[in-house]
Amino acid sequence: MRYKVFGKTGLEVSELCLGTWGIGGAGWDQNPEETKMDAIRASFEQGVNIFDTAPAYNAGAAERILGETLEKMGVRKDVILSTKCGNDFVNGQYVHCGKRDHILAQCDASLRNLRTDYIDLYILHWPQDDATPEETLGAMMELKKAGKVRFLGLSNHSVAQMEEAAKYADIDFIQVQYSMLEREREVEMKYAEAHGMATMGYGVLGGGLLTGRYRELRTYETMDSRNRFYKFFREPGWSKAQKLLGVMDEISAARGGVPLSEIAVNWALQKSFLTTALFGTQHRARAIENCHALDWTLSDADIATLDQALVEFGI
Ligand SMILES: NC(=O)c1ccc[n+]([C@@H]2O[C@H](COP(=O)([O-])OP(=O)(O)OC[C@H]3O[C@@H](n4cnc5c(N)ncnc54)[C@H](OP(=O)(O)O)[C@@H]3O)[C@@H](O)[C@H]2O)c1
Repeated sequence: MRYKVFGKTGLEVSELCLGTWGIGGAGWDQNPEETKMDAIRASFEQGVNIFDTAPAYNAGAAERILGETLEKMGVRKDVILSTKCGNDFVNGQYVHCGKRDHILAQCDASLRNLRTDYIDLYILHWPQDDATPEETLGAMMELKKAGKVRFLGLSNHSVAQMEEAAKYADIDFIQVQYSMLEREREVEMKYAEAHGMATMGYGVLGGGLLTGRYRELRTYETMDSRNRFYKFFREPGWSKAQKLLGVMDEISAARGGVPLSEIAVNWALQKSFLTTALFGTQHRARAIENCHALDWTLSDADIATLDQALVEFGI
């Protein structure tokens, strides 16, 4: 594992972060709880020291599984916990909830679920539409002053929204989608880097597509994240992504069959403006595989080949 300083916070984080959206159990494949807990254990054993979750990941279920696993391992003080507010999962739907009372109550619920008395990284999950930035971020600052959360971040915000938020709260980092298939947020990541903020890039595996495990187009249930959230599981993105997998296959073959997931992680982590890359898995073996990406680096020629493919295929 490799580690980086997490921007102005001074925290030292692993360059890979385990995300727990799938572990929550809604919108992804179903697996036994023990399997999911083992994925968390394996990530920690590989040197991952930062874990991302949210109340919206199946109404607190992901937080509860993460909290229970870390408590059983007795490693709370050795890890950095990242969770979110302002978004929830109610009756099978994602809802915004940025009002002050909700943010305060949501934080207390997260502390209970995570079995801890402080949250290291506390993130506004999405820009709000039911409260002003002043109200939502003001509530988050109250939590920081009360010592319930240590550092505040923004997820899925534009630069203009980041600048507005900075009027009401100390923002130390951002979390945005970042992978070979999704590079629109490079603008915000470069802005963050220039202002000393850390960046968390989620979906580094393109929701699993960049591992090469999906080679046939199929449909998913309405609320499945491969239908609802990661657009390259549908046309026109699907065909473009399949062409990219062909290029990744060639790089893999030239490197003795290295897994495509490692190529995807490597490509992202070779960017200076990415502090830590978030991957999600419910499986021990896949967590270990993804962490092996840090045992080697892509050559400049490999990166150029991939970047050229992204342009050529219109990704
Ligand atoms: N802030 C936000 O708005 C936001 C949005 C999305 C995600 N996130 C965070 O970012 C984390 C990561 O993103 P993500 O989980 O959505 O997407 P991801 O990491 O790009 O992809 C997850 C998918 O990849 C599969 N996978 C992982 N490693 C694999 C491997 N080596 N071989 C084959 N398949 C593999 C997983 O399957 P299995 O689980 O079956 O192994 C899962 O289906 C989330 O868990 C969450 O914490 C944040």
